[in-house]
Amino acid sequence: MSFTIAIDGPAAAGKGTLSKAVAAHFGFAHLDTGLLYRAVGAKTLLGVEPIEAALALTAEDLNAQGLRTQDVAQAASRVAVIAEVRAALVDFQRAFAQRAGGAVLDGRDIGTVICPDAAVKLFVTASAQVRAERRFLELLAKGDPCTREDVLADVKARDARDMERVEAPLKPADDAVLIDTSQMSIEDAALRAIAVVEARKP
Ligand code: DC
Repeated sequence: MSFTIAIDGPAAAGKGTLSKAVAAHFGFAHLDTGLLYRAVGAKTLLGVEPIEAALALTAEDLNAQGLRTQDVAQAASRVAVIAEVRAALVDFQRAFAQRAGGAVLDGRDIGTVICPDAAVKLFVTASAQVRAERRFLELLAKGDPCTREDVLADVKARDARDMERVEAPLKPADDAVLIDTSQMSIEDAALRAIAVVEARKP
């Protein structure tokens, strides 16, 4: 039987860590759907046309090096506004959501568009400042040369593009449980998420 957990929220809210923790706790498979858009975005930086890149995407492309850079994140956010790109990625995500044994998908439109019938929907957020600071420290640890100001500007630019786009804009589903991690460690947020899922499990 399938059991789908949809986890949405803006960039750098802690969705990735939280989703992995939830998936590991319940023994569910996890798909970071942002990687699909990043893989398409990365191809456009090499000159491939976005719709063509999305239609030709393979599972191996998700393991490509360098998908976590700021440039690729911005490229991902740019290709994500294109309806045909989003449409090309729907089937893969829905098939993943239906796999037996349970699935966690994190992204921007999982609870609203990809899996509107998900058993559990979480919307994980935090203030832009808190998210930018977390991302800045992450990039610094990786040796990525960046400034706090640049990272904050980047987070705000992506927020605006992700929330204001016409196709599947970032917003909480009506029935999503909101988790604001501004004043909470990601570990505590993960415990809260696990408790929400536990309460909904058959
Ligand atoms: O989650 P992330 O930062 O890796 O996502 C990169 C970009 O991909 C994000 O800015 C918007 C887009 N995206 C999307 O439009 N829909 C999703 N389900 C996941 C990501």
